[in-house]
Amino acid sequence: MKVTLSVIKADIGSIGGHIQPSARLVETVRTRIADGGKGLLLDTYVGFTGDDVAILMSHTRGAGNEGVHKLAWDAFIAGTATAKAQGLYGAGQDLLKDSFSGNVKGMGPAVAEMEFEERPNEPFLLFAADKTDPGAYNLPCYLGFADPMVSSGLILSPKVGKGFTFRIMDVAYTEGDRVIDLSAPEDLYDIAALLRDQERFVVESVRSRATGEIAAVVSTTRLHNIAGKYTGKDDPVMLVRTQGNFPATGEVLAPFTIGHFVAGFMRGSHHGALMPVPRNTGTSFFDGPPIVSCLAFCVKEGKFTEAADTFAHPYWDYVRTKTAAKSEDLRRQGFFGPAMLPYSELEYGGIVERLSAMDAKFRVLKSRKEEVTA
Ligand code: 13P
Ligand code: 13P
Ligand code: MG
Ligand code: MG
Repeated sequence: MKVTLSVIKADIGSIGGHIQPSARLVETVRTRIADGGKGLLLDTYVGFTGDDVAILMSHTRGAGNEGVHKLAWDAFIAGTATAKAQGLYGAGQDLLKDSFSGNVKGMGPAVAEMEFEERPNEPFLLFAADKTDPGAYNLPCYLGFADPMVSSGLILSPKVGKGFTFRIMDVAYTEGDRVIDLSAPEDLYDIAALLRDQERFVVESVRSRATGEIAAVVSTTRLHNIAGKYTGKDDPVMLVRTQGNFPATGEVLAPFTIGHFVAGFMRGSHHGALMPVPRNTGTSFFDGPPIVSCLAFCVKEGKFTEAADTFAHPYWDYVRTKTAAKSEDLRRQGFFGPAMLPYSELEYGGIVERLSAMDAKFRVLKSRKEEVTA
């Protein structure tokens, strides 16, 4: 049967700053989805990563369905009411529009959806990240779907070895969805040339070249492009189908051992190493570190198994220690150089006023002997 997986996530308030949602908030969202999902959805899962609540839904209504999106929006509105009632910080943070208008895309919440014909066995992964942005998945997608040094299926499995087509989005373009489709391995260097710029070019989806089937979808929301100012980081979600014509689950997970540097962390303005964490993990040090969770499911006729929490495995304890050390090293240089994001990313925040106030005071010296004015 043809099934649609939709994951919609938002930060609608959290305990003690940008740490994690309250149990009551999550319960409000869960109950609202369970009640409103009757007759609309086949199955649901609600969980959190850092201060972001993710709603996973299966149904047969295709991507961008108004009823499904409205249910998620209403659940976030209900959760926001709980957040306000409990005095949580940033209540309704990611709900940037006052009223629902057909689709949550462009309204603040992050969305990733895929529709496909269910295979007899259908494993898939739900990734959710906090204190970072969609470009955080660029490197893992590149390595998992295009690099046999990491993803051995590319040389061991003939079907996986047919390669993958990457749809890459220019997220700086705000008039519409500006994308390019490039296929690995032929276009590998072009793919690399774009994906290296994690803030500008973002993997939007990946398809199998053996069958044309959808393999991965990533939320591409950049909140500052909607709000015109810094309102919080984009904290992206990703769905990945695995096994068969796709990389094995372990091949998709493998790149996350690197703990690569991503944008985000404190005030969305720094670089930090992306730490793989178990589900329902909050943030802490320096409002971070940037974290990512990954739940593995199988789905049959739209019904989910229980989730297997992939990053809860002991192997990742070592990765977490190593990743914390990488972030620590960069933190030692505070705001200097690559520790803090470049101006192009900071221009949505308060530093703009500071810099423009100083701009008026700059002068071009006529001679090096001129008096100091301050
Ligand atoms: P199994 O033989 O355990 O099914 O594993 C096959 C595989 O592809 C693992 O990556
Ligand atoms: P969130 O985007 O997760 O809300 O974090 C915002 C922030 O500024 C943390 O310091
Ligand atoms: Mg927040
Ligand atoms: Mg967040």
